[in-house]
Amino acid sequence: MSTLENLSCPIDSTPLSLVERSLKCDQGHTFDLAKSGYVNLLPVQNKRSKDPGDSKEMVVSRQAFLSQQHYFPIVSAILSSWPERHLYDGVRILDAGCGEGYYLDEIGKALMAQETSAERTGLDISKWAIAAASKRDKSVSWLVGSNASLPVPDSRFDAVLCLFGFPVFSEFSRALSDDGLLLLVESGPDHLIELRRILYPTIHEYKPTFADGVAGFELMQEKTETFSFTLGSQEDIQNLLSMTPHMHKASYDGREALKQLNSIILTADIKLRWYHKKAKEVNHV
Ligand SMILES: C[S@@+](CC[C@H](N)C(=O)[O-])C[C@H]1O[C@@H](n2cnc3c(N)ncnc32)[C@H](O)[C@@H]1O
Ligand SMILES: [Zn+2]
Repeated sequence: MSTLENLSCPIDSTPLSLVERSLKCDQGHTFDLAKSGYVNLLPVQNKRSKDPGDSKEMVVSRQAFLSQQHYFPIVSAILSSWPERHLYDGVRILDAGCGEGYYLDEIGKALMAQETSAERTGLDISKWAIAAASKRDKSVSWLVGSNASLPVPDSRFDAVLCLFGFPVFSEFSRALSDDGLLLLVESGPDHLIELRRILYPTIHEYKPTFADGVAGFELMQEKTETFSFTLGSQEDIQNLLSMTPHMHKASYDGREALKQLNSIILTADIKLRWYHKKAKEVNHV
C-alpha cells in the first residue's frame, strides 16, 4: 500500500499525518482519501481554474495510447541512463506531472525485476489523471497537487522526474535532497514529424528548451532516444493527437487530412536530460 508519508499541508506547510482515511495537519485542515486511495492536496485557493490540467478526455486518450506500449523505449531509456550511483534501494522518486501514471508504474515494475525497491510518489494537477493513476498501482502515493507548490517538506525526494510536463525548478530544488537528481524528458526536433507535416503547412524551427541552463541545477548528461512506431487505426491516431498540444494548435484542414488515414508510421525523438541539484552556496564573511 502507498504510505502517503512525509507530506505537508498545502495551506500552511505543516506536517500531515494519516488518521484512518484522512490526512490531517495540526491546524485542523483535513484531506480525505478517495476510494481508490489518492488524496487531493490542491486547495481551492491554489486553483487557477475549476478543472485544472488535462481533461478527462485527454487522460482517457493518453491511457489508451500509452497502454499499447509504443513509448516503452522511453521507460527503458530512463532506466538505462539513470546515473548508477543514484539508483539504490529505497530511492525516493517523485513524478511531477505524472499524468495517468504510466511511467511511474512501468519504472516500479522494472526496478522490482532488478530487486530495487523505490518509494514512488506521483503528482498531477488534473484530478482525472490522478483518479486514473490511482487505479493502476496501489503501492504509489498518488496526489492531486501542483508543481508550483509541492505539498511536501524540503529534501523529501532523491529524484524528481518531469516528463513532457511543466517544470517549476525552484520547487523541484526545494523538494530534492542535497545529492538529488532531476530528469527532464522532452520532445526533440523530429518528434512525431510525420504527424506534424500533415497537421501544419510549415514546420517551425526547433528551439531547444532550457538551452541556457536551469537555475539551481547542473546538467550531468543528455541522451537522445529515437525510435519509430506504427499506429494501425484511425482511433489510435486520434488518441495520440488528443494527448498532444497539436490537438488545439493544428489547422482545420490538417486535422481533416489526418482523419483520412488508417495507419501511420511515426518517429519518436526524445531528449532526456539529467541534472544534479547544485550545492547551496555558502557565504564566507
Ligand atoms: C503532456 S502531459 C504529460 C503527462 C505524463 N508525464 C506523461 O508523459 O504521460 C502534462 C501533464 O502535466 C499536468 N500539469 C499541468 N500543469 C501542472 C502543474 N502546475 N503541476 C502538476 N501537473 C501539471 C497535466 O495535467 C498533464 O497531466
Ligand atoms: Zn494545515
